[in-house]
Amino acid sequence: MTPQTRTILDYHQRTKHTLQRYAKGPETIDWEDQPDPFRRFSGCALFPLARPGRDLPVRFADLDQPHNITVQALTLPNVGLLLELAFGLSAWKQLGPSRWALRCNPSSGNLHPTEAYVLAADNTLLPAGVYHYVSHDHQLEQRCQFAVTGDAETNTGSGLFIGLSSIHWREAWKYGERAFRYCQHDIGHALGALRYAAACLGWTISLLSEAADADIARLLGLDRAGDFKKNEQETPDVLCRIQITGHDPVTYQDLCAVLPSATWFGVADSLKAYHLYHWPVIDEVAEAAYKPETALLPWQVTQQPPLPTACGKQASQLIRQRRSAQQFDGKMAALPAADFYRILSAVMPDTAAFSFWQSQPKVHLFVFVHRVEGLASGLYALARHEASLTVLQDATLSLFDWHRQHDSLPFYHLYSGDLKQTAKTLSCHQPIASDSAFSLAMVAEFADTINNAPWQYRRLFWECGLIGQVLYLEAEAAGVRGTGIGCYFDDSVHEILGINDDKLQSLYHFTIGKPREDSRLQTLPPYSHLQDSLS
Ligand SMILES: Cc1cc2nc3c(=O)[nH]c(=O)nc-3n(C[C@H](O)[C@H](O)[C@H](O)COP(=O)(O)O)c2cc1C
Repeated sequence: MTPQTRTILDYHQRTKHTLQRYAKGPETIDWEDQPDPFRRFSGCALFPLARPGRDLPVRFADLDQPHNITVQALTLPNVGLLLELAFGLSAWKQLGPSRWALRCNPSSGNLHPTEAYVLAADNTLLPAGVYHYVSHDHQLEQRCQFAVTGDAETNTGSGLFIGLSSIHWREAWKYGERAFRYCQHDIGHALGALRYAAACLGWTISLLSEAADADIARLLGLDRAGDFKKNEQETPDVLCRIQITGHDPVTYQDLCAVLPSATWFGVADSLKAYHLYHWPVIDEVAEAAYKPETALLPWQVTQQPPLPTACGKQASQLIRQRRSAQQFDGKMAALPAADFYRILSAVMPDTAAFSFWQSQPKVHLFVFVHRVEGLASGLYALARHEASLTVLQDATLSLFDWHRQHDSLPFYHLYSGDLKQTAKTLSCHQPIASDSAFSLAMVAEFADTINNAPWQYRRLFWECGLIGQVLYLEAEAAGVRGTGIGCYFDDSVHEILGINDDKLQSLYHFTIGKPREDSRLQTLPPYSHLQDSLS
C-alpha cells in the first residue's frame, strides 16, 4: 500500500460519523461569521453575461435522446445560459431577516465550496483567457489573457473549457474534518449540473481525465499563492471540454501550449469570516489524493435511453425548480412503480447523464423502500454494473435473497421488513430518510479502487454526487423531490448490510418523496437584484 493510500484510508476512517460520536468539527459555530458564499476577484476586467432566465424549447424527456436536440450556436449568450443552468442562482429564500441564495447545483449545508471557471483557448467568444464565474452577479471576471496567434486564433475548435475547483475551508467552517468528502460530493453534483445544462443546448461535455491536478492549477491560476488569502486557496478538481457538433475538439496539449503566454490579473477577495478552527487533516488528504497525469480512461459503453418518463416539462424549468426537500409527507400515497423504475433506470451508467464519465461504474445503490407501489417495504439493491454483482453479494449478508425484480434493470430484492426507523437512524436520525418513498445508500467498490490509484478516492465521491444530481432532477420530473444526505453513520450502515471490511464503503445517501413545504419561508426570484444592470 502506498503512503498516499494509507493517508486516505486513515482520513476516511477518522471522518466516519458513529452512533457514539460525530466526526471532528467545530465546537461552536458563529452563524453571523459565515464565509462569503460568493468569491470575487478584485482588479479584473468584468464581462457581464446576457440576462438570465431564458428558456429553450427542450423538454426534460428530450434529454434521454441527446442526438435529437437542436444544437445551439456557440455564442456568448449561450455560454451565459450554460453557466446559469449549471451554477447560477435559482432563487432566494427568506425567513424573517435571514436571506440566502439557492443555486442550480446543490451543496452540502448550502456552503458552495465549488468555484467555476471558463477557459477560452481562442478569441472566438472572448479574448482568449481564463474567467471566473460569479453566480451572484452572473458575470465573468477575467483572471488572465493568453496571447494566441496563428492556428490557435483561426482554429475551428470550440476552444471552450469549464474548470472546477474547491475552497475546502468554506465547507470545513461548518463541517470540520468530514468537509473534504462533501467538497467532492459537490464537485460530482456540479459536473452533473454542467452536463444537464450542456444537454439543453445540444452540447456535450468531456472530462480531460488525463490532466494532472498540477496542470489544472496552472491553467486556472490556482497555483498563484499570492493571489489568495492563506487558508482560502482553491484546490484544482477537474477540467471539462465543451463539445459542440461542427467544432473540432481542442486538445489538452493545445491548451497547455497557450499557458506560457498568460498575463494574470486580480486577487481573490477575502471570504471575510474569521478562521477560528484549522483542520490540517484536510490538507493532508487533499495532497494524498492529488492526481498525476494519467492515461485516458478507456471505458466505453453503448448508450441506452432510460425507461420512459411521463414528464412533459421543459428541461430548463426543472433545472431551475430543483430544490432539496427539508421535510417529507410521511403519509404520502405510494410512489407509482413506473416513476420509481424510471428514476432507477436514469442512474444506470449507459444513459446520457453518464456518457462523459469514461470509467467503469464503481458505485451501487442499496435502497430502503418505504412507500413504492407494488414493492414490499424492505431492502433492495441496484447493481449499476452487472459484473460487480458477485462482489456485492459476497461482501454482504448471506441472508439476502438477491431476487431479481425487473426484466431490464439489475434491481434485486434483498430483505422484506419495515426499515423506516433503521433508515432514519442510519442517516443521523434525520426523518427525511424515513418519511420519503425511498431512501438509499450509495455503496462504492472502495479499497481496490483506491489501492490502484489514490486519486480515485475523490472520483468515487464525484460519481456519488453525479448520481445524486440525476436523482434530484428525476425526482422533480416525477413530481416529487429529493435530498442529498451527507450525514450518516458509516459503519452502522455497513453493519446493517453485513459489510465488514473496506472492500465496500457507503459514501453518500439520498432520499426521495413528497415534500412538505415550510410555509414560513418566502421564495424570491433569483436575479431581481440585477434588474437594471443586465441587458
Ligand atoms: C453532498 C450533500 C450533502 C447533503 N446532506 C444533507 C443532509 O445530510 N441533510 C439535509 O437535510 N440536507 C442535506 N443536503 C441538502 C443541502 O442542505 C442543500 O443542497 C442546500 O441547502 C442547498 O439547497 P437546495 O438543494 O435546495 O439548492 C445535502 C446536499 C449535498 C449536495
